Amino acid sequence: MTILVTGGCGYIGSHTINDLIQNGYDVISVDNNSRSGNQLLDGVQKLTGKAIKNYKVDLCDFEATRKIFEVHKVDGIIHFAAFKSVDESVKYPLLYFQNNLVSQINILRCAEEFNVQHFVFSSSCSVYGNADISLVTEDTPLQKPESPYGRTKQIGEEMINDIAKNASARFILLRYFNPAGAHPSSVIGEVPFGKPSNLIPAITQFAAGKIPALKVYGTDYDTRDGSCIRDFVHVCDIAHAHTLAIDKLIGGEIKTNSLILNLGTGNGVTVLEAIKAFEKISGKKLDYGLAGRRPGDVVAVYANNDKARKILNWTPQFDIHDILKTAWDWELSL
Ligand SMILES: NC(=O)c1ccc[n+]([C@@H]2O[C@H](COP(=O)([O-])OP(=O)(O)OC[C@H]3O[C@@H](n4cnc5c(N)ncnc54)[C@H](O)[C@@H]3O)[C@@H](O)[C@H]2O)c1
Repeated sequence: MTILVTGGCGYIGSHTINDLIQNGYDVISVDNNSRSGNQLLDGVQKLTGKAIKNYKVDLCDFEATRKIFEVHKVDGIIHFAAFKSVDESVKYPLLYFQNNLVSQINILRCAEEFNVQHFVFSSSCSVYGNADISLVTEDTPLQKPESPYGRTKQIGEEMINDIAKNASARFILLRYFNPAGAHPSSVIGEVPFGKPSNLIPAITQFAAGKIPALKVYGTDYDTRDGSCIRDFVHVCDIAHAHTLAIDKLIGGEIKTNSLILNLGTGNGVTVLEAIKAFEKISGKKLDYGLAGRRPGDVVAVYANNDKARKILNWTPQFDIHDILKTAWDWELSL
């Protein structure tokens, strides 16, 4: 079985390719390296002992994308490729609409034309916006997204739901909460593009002296210590959920055309708690700064993951301490 992974040179894509190969799948990657290099795919080759073909193609180029399907018989697609920075999307909304939506339309067109029956889409908890409750289920009504990035994920989900109504293909939409950490081998991990906009790489890069400041954005939210609450979930747990999703799709076990699943641990951790936990694990005191609220940030969101546990048989194996430890080991290995 051959799985086409878009965004395979990126953070979650590379960890997922590793997991897919460890579980017997053949993989091809499509990534134009607009937000990555070859380092992570090279790492996966080291971990698996397998050569992985990456097509350096912009998915916004329909003809170039289509050609890949003429060469390979594809059994399933996992679509990761997208731009993902909330604050960048606030500054450059059109860039996000263009890249994330056009690339998704093109890969869906190819899936339809080449009769690919199994499709997994990277969605995000950002689709919940500032939900009325913090512990969200897949049925929690979606609010207005807080950023253009979140809007691309809401629209991306809606496009798939519409297509799924009249397709024989089956779709799984995975709403990730806050993926973090690195493979325990420290051979692959997160390589932020430019200045890190996610908390954990910002913490590790600050601790390593790579960035001059670590700021906590917003300390007056209505949370237990005033900072935002996030549901950090280990990237290897996220990666394995994709293999399970593909297994279930290919095994014919998914009966609904379009299935949405939350991927989080269900444990909300505040930004300040994450910093304190890192200090304990690394033995380093962090001289972080306090700053105002950041546009686009959601106050508090964490996952009810019952559905993913039940349908995918998914159980997160790593907690916040493992996340910080593997992220720090990875940073030290660079
Ligand atoms: N990391 C997170 O915190 C997080 C949270 C929720 C959802 N997601 C979603 O998960 C997916 C993967 O995220 P990630 O953290 O691995 O990001 P990443 O930036 O590490 O990887 C994305 C990859 O997609 C590639 N890409 C982007 N646009 C492309 C295009 N037009 N054509 C070809 N390749 C293109 C980039 O070069 C990059 O290698 C994204 O869709 C993201 O929105 C990520």
